Amino acid sequence: MCGIFGIITLKPRAIGRDLVAGGKRLSYRGYDSVGCAVISDGKIDLRKDTGKVDEVSKKLNFSEMHGDRGVMQLRWATFGAPSKTNSQPHLDCNGDMVGAHNGNIVNTPQLREQFIREGHKVRSTNDGEICIHAVEKYYDKGYSMVESIRKAYEDLRGDYAFIIFNNKEKKLYAVKKGSGLLIGVGRNEMYCSSDLPSLLPLTKKIIFIKDGEIASLSPKEAKLFRITDGKEIEAKVVKYGENQEYAKKGGYEHFMLKEINEQPVVAEDLVELLDDSKYVDKFLDVVKESNKVFLVGCGSSYHACLLGSYYFGNIAKKTVIPAVAPQFISQYGHTIDDKTCIVLVSQSGETKDVINAMEYAKGKTGRILGVMNVIGSTLMNSSKVYLPLAAGYEVSVPATKTFLNQCVMFLYLAKRMRGESCEDMKKVPSLIKETINSVDDACRKVAAYLERWKELYSLGYGSTYSIAKEAALKIKEITYSHCEGMYSSEFKHGPLSAVRRGYPVLFISSPKDVDVMVSHINEVTCRGGRAIAVAEKSDSIVRNANELVQLPHSGNYISPILATIPAQLIAYYMSIGREINPDFPRNLSKTITVD
Ligand code: G6P
Repeated sequence: MCGIFGIITLKPRAIGRDLVAGGKRLSYRGYDSVGCAVISDGKIDLRKDTGKVDEVSKKLNFSEMHGDRGVMQLRWATFGAPSKTNSQPHLDCNGDMVGAHNGNIVNTPQLREQFIREGHKVRSTNDGEICIHAVEKYYDKGYSMVESIRKAYEDLRGDYAFIIFNNKEKKLYAVKKGSGLLIGVGRNEMYCSSDLPSLLPLTKKIIFIKDGEIASLSPKEAKLFRITDGKEIEAKVVKYGENQEYAKKGGYEHFMLKEINEQPVVAEDLVELLDDSKYVDKFLDVVKESNKVFLVGCGSSYHACLLGSYYFGNIAKKTVIPAVAPQFISQYGHTIDDKTCIVLVSQSGETKDVINAMEYAKGKTGRILGVMNVIGSTLMNSSKVYLPLAAGYEVSVPATKTFLNQCVMFLYLAKRMRGESCEDMKKVPSLIKETINSVDDACRKVAAYLERWKELYSLGYGSTYSIAKEAALKIKEITYSHCEGMYSSEFKHGPLSAVRRGYPVLFISSPKDVDVMVSHINEVTCRGGRAIAVAEKSDSIVRNANELVQLPHSGNYISPILATIPAQLIAYYMSIGREINPDFPRNLSKTITVD
């Protein structure tokens, strides 16, 4: 959450334009407030306000901002309510220094009081401002910027990254501790950003900053310093080859719909990539040779772990334990040894809870594998072997194509591990396409019915439990209705009491589990509830459910993947019906870089 983007150029120019463009590419990280600060002729021009990047940059005319260095910040609020004062960037006491951060400074309340006692002019309750005063405090005592940041690092607790600069030196400084931060090397320009895709339209030359390093950027040179001893270290430039396109809605009303429709193509790309990759066997060798295997993720990625565990168990006959990342350390931490394999599953590769699990496991086992979408992300760089999701840039906050590709990936891996041919995976993309085309009308109809209800259940059994959970998450994220995803057989142990006339329950079934699902459907319909089935057509489903969103025929293992599509579309149409923008649901961020 929160995104920062900085630029330093040789000659002053309208850098506001590039900062806005960079900020837009980070818009999935935060949309509570936006701010931009540039230095021109030694004067800091700072503009900021609450709202999304498009609105605020237009209102405050960011594009006209002129200077030779600057920073833009997009905020997803943690410390301090979303307000103009709490928006970033922040100034130091005299307005000579400015900067913005991403992450959390967990000792903000103590430091804020301390700085106020020491006579600092603290204007907000936001932790980003604390970073600025923490550096200013030492800079005013005569330390250099690098030394001041090193000293501030000792005072600031938490995981964060920030960019800071002053009106005297033509430099941009940045520091990384636990949050994403990379440098882009341009021609007579340097860039600094929270993620890699936002840099790629400007340059393919990237410097990966590690935790505990400070960057000192001038237009022609990037220097890195180690925080522990202040020594300069090599700033290695990596040429990044992939021509990653950043997002445009491409004729769709929302990124979410565009990304749902991209699923056949990204699934095809993934299957091709896996067919050709020498890393698949390396990845699976580690899994095979491990005594215990965990799939660790959060949110949608965790739901993919649930399905992954099902595939590995049923197809590859390997017990693989799915774990929600924050629970992983407390529940399983003591069981990890050097024969334990941890598979980190994350779209962004920056989710803090997953990073915590990785850091913890790293000290106990070398068997850390990764499944991520964002190339060059923290988790990808920390994995011994990683497999990219190849889903392209996903803008919409609710995960769609990345979730689907995680599921495709696990099915492929389980089959390969079993020694089965993956030939039939080649038909998955066209089945996805067929599903998108065939379920649309039914999903609109279901959404129209569900719109009237403030709560509902989404039930699955066996392989579709994961999809029921994912459907519930999609509905919660973008419709603001409560939806609980659970095992259909558990429904009778309590939640059944919610059922009354017309009460909606989604039943997501694979062909294999239709019989048991029909029993569970009847428990609901005999009490007046409305059973909406997502399944392949079968006589018993048609006879027993009130409605069927019909999936194409595909079989037990591919069917849950196809069921994802109605889950996404039902949530999408409900969201539209309620006039919610599904791309940017309130309070949520695509990348959660705090605990
Ligand atoms: C956030 C997003 C979710 C996402 C989760 C995990 O909460 O809003 O959509 O599933 O993070 O993200 P990751 O990048 O680790 O898959």
